[in-house]
Amino acid sequence: MSVPDSVAAMGAYRESIADPEAFWLRAAAAIDWHTPPRSALDHTDPHAWRWFPDGMLNTSHEALDRHVDAGHGDRPALIFDSAMTGTRRRFTYTELRDEVATLAGALRSLGVEFGDRVIIYLPMIPEALVAMLACARIGAVHSVVFGGFAAAELAARIDDAQPTALLTATGGLEPGRTVDYLPTVSKALALSASPPSTVIVKHRPEVSADAVTPAGWLDWDTVVADAAPVDAVPVPANHPLYVLYTSGTTGKPKGVVRDHGGHAVAMAWSMASIYDVHPGDVMWAASDVGWVVGHSYIVYAPLIAGATTVLYEGKPVGTPDAGAFWRVITEHDVNVLFCAPTALRAIRKEDPDGALLADYEMPSLHTVFAAGERLDPETYHWAANRLGRPVVDHWWQTETGWSICANLRGLEPMPVKPGSASLPVPGYHVKVVDAHGGDVAAGQEGNIVIALPLPPGSLLGLWNSPERFVDSYLRAFPGHYATGDTGYFDDDGYLFVLGRSDDVINVAGHRLTTGSMEAVVATHPAVAECAVIGVPDALKGERPAAYVVLKSGATVDAQTLRADVVALVRDQIGPVAALKDVFAVPALPKTRSGKILRRTMRQIAAGEEYAVPPTIEDPGVLDALAAATVPSG
Ligand code: COA
Ligand code: AMP
Repeated sequence: MSVPDSVAAMGAYRESIADPEAFWLRAAAAIDWHTPPRSALDHTDPHAWRWFPDGMLNTSHEALDRHVDAGHGDRPALIFDSAMTGTRRRFTYTELRDEVATLAGALRSLGVEFGDRVIIYLPMIPEALVAMLACARIGAVHSVVFGGFAAAELAARIDDAQPTALLTATGGLEPGRTVDYLPTVSKALALSASPPSTVIVKHRPEVSADAVTPAGWLDWDTVVADAAPVDAVPVPANHPLYVLYTSGTTGKPKGVVRDHGGHAVAMAWSMASIYDVHPGDVMWAASDVGWVVGHSYIVYAPLIAGATTVLYEGKPVGTPDAGAFWRVITEHDVNVLFCAPTALRAIRKEDPDGALLADYEMPSLHTVFAAGERLDPETYHWAANRLGRPVVDHWWQTETGWSICANLRGLEPMPVKPGSASLPVPGYHVKVVDAHGGDVAAGQEGNIVIALPLPPGSLLGLWNSPERFVDSYLRAFPGHYATGDTGYFDDDGYLFVLGRSDDVINVAGHRLTTGSMEAVVATHPAVAECAVIGVPDALKGERPAAYVVLKSGATVDAQTLRADVVALVRDQIGPVAALKDVFAVPALPKTRSGKILRRTMRQIAAGEEYAVPPTIEDPGVLDALAAATVPSG
């Protein structure tokens, strides 16, 4: 089904589909271009869309200098709030610009050149933003790696990006433990075929103050103290701003490439039209800079808009309690909160009646946005009732960089429908189709696809992998981008996203692939074969569960097997994979052609009704699987 008439009738949406070039060229006027674009789009290659191809700008200028030059240098740009250390720090636009310009000067003097890649492996500290913006300033391409990933994952990203430099810190802080980064970085460099020549380390007094930096690695503060600030260099609009790796269906992560120009325009447009955030407002995206939400709505969009962004090091619960979010909102006059539904579920679990809300009035807060996974109706009702503000689900992906479906709170607000990510956003010609690309009726589930070209801000391609880009997204439904998600439109044009059609799972808003977990589990000496599936989880939405078939003669007991497999995944992928359920089964259910029946496995694990697939080789396997499934709790 194509976008229903009710949506198509909406002004902005209608214009963006009928005349995308005029629509986006007008939106581009919000940007302070070095050379304004004369043409909006180059889509001569059916597999490529290049927005504002003749424009030139620099995102670091857009996010910082522009506001300083306009006389807003004293406005707060960044508020750092660490619930882990009790630290609060504010940076004005002038202060942040100066920090960025100096680090940019340091990077350049260390040989980081235009187009070079820089890996950023940093916790949630201001240096993470400074590093990203410093790379942008000199036309280097940053690739931020989430701190919850282990050395092998970091090494895989280093090998793909081939960086000149890596920026890190002594460590991060998780409740009850410190996460030492330097051993992980050392291990990743040893595993990597093309380690960067320069490593710069920020020494955090709170974490491993006595950490010994390996020989040749540079101290952040020393490097910056010796550097001279540099100006932002104008870059072509389609010059890559960053590569952000995300899970694909194979173990090899996909490097999503985003540009300077289209991204800046999309960020600016979304702040006003979707989030209703304007210069001087305060936005808090309670995510991590290692994810796309962090890139777009902790770093780039709020700063491009001239707003204030909050960088929060802490959790929704336990740091110190389930009132942490309300404390941050009150203390920093946050207007818009953006978080994952799992964070709301965590708060609800600890404080079901919202008793802690009584301590905070939060007069500044006008809207809560949720994304990363579906906002389930129960959590929606809880949050909307307790907070008394609109709670808006919106759906997007690392690939798109901003939301595909949302409620345009700043432009054309619509009633919220619990369970729905609302309506297609201008620029995204969303359709729900069957396996052959044919439209399906309202209310009927199908593949969610988007007609090309995708709007500004969405991916340019995959780093180093043009064929994989086409194969992953453009091959299945010619002329369309395949989102990998399934869902349906209702009669009013609201989209309900139901889940993935591939092996990607979503654990606490973190996107992971079961394929890479299987590759790790299979290395256990007692394991003959295995399957990892996502099963429903009341807190995290989904959690991975591993089903393993032991080699004949293997004698490992269930407890040891579980401990071994959990440790392996933690060591190879990282704690964020959160694998806890490991079940030994006599065999995996397969079709006669040898394909694992994952859907049936998921249904059994979830305790749902299931039909025995007619193609199954041995139906008896299913009973054994059901008997073996005892969740870890
Ligand atoms: N560095 C190192 N380890 C990390 C990490 C990081 N940056 N982030 C998470 N981890 C670790 C956690 O400490 C935990 O380790 P453990 O198994 O030793 O306890 C493990 O990875 C799993 O983390 P997580 O799934 O986040 O669970 P949690 O119990 O720590 O917290 C929530 C649960 C709901 C509070 C948390 O998942 C959350 O806030 N999620 C929001 C996610 C989000 O913002 N997603 C972005 C999309 S908007
Ligand atoms: P990521 O690339 O990590 O942002 O993950 C993107 C995937 O998360 C999407 O393809 C969806 O499967 C899921 N997702 C994100 N936001 C939503 C949402 N609001 N509703 C349903 N699924 C979502």
